[in-house]
Amino acid sequence: MIYPIVKFGDPVLDKPAAEVTSFDDDLKKLIEDMFESMYAARGVGLAAPQIGLSKRIAVVDVTFKENPDDKLVLINPVIVNKEGRQRGSEGCLSIPEFREDVTRAKIVTVRAQDLTGKFFEHTGEDLLARAFLHETDHLNGKLYISHVSALKRDLIKRKIKKMVKAGEW
Ligand code: NI
Repeated sequence: MIYPIVKFGDPVLDKPAAEVTSFDDDLKKLIEDMFESMYAARGVGLAAPQIGLSKRIAVVDVTFKENPDDKLVLINPVIVNKEGRQRGSEGCLSIPEFREDVTRAKIVTVRAQDLTGKFFEHTGEDLLARAFLHETDHLNGKLYISHVSALKRDLIKRKIKKMVKAGEW
């Protein structure tokens, strides 16, 4: 099932998501649907609040179906280490049509649970590091525009307001 993507302005994107405690078949199905929804939206990462579900789940595939090993499921993820710095363009399925440069750590280690509830750690560099940070932010009710200057953020918000008024958001 493909879920519609929730856009900026929906309060579900602004609140911390709830811990996942039950690792059952419903969760498996939800993860499948999240990948399907992410691919349909042409994204490389998706957090559950973006489909309106306030749960600490994110899916990531930074090579977009190219390499099965790049398909990652992060349940209750926590960033445990950050190193270096990278600056690069970042976007979000919930803020379509906008992109901004964001400074992030270059190497990031995330600790999370898999579909069975087992804990694991994964270290990513560059785009994967960025995805870990971006998706974990989502689960904490934070969007990437919180990392850009207030000036740029206000400009984006003003443009979105206009689009909302015009029925284009
Ligand atoms: Ni996003």
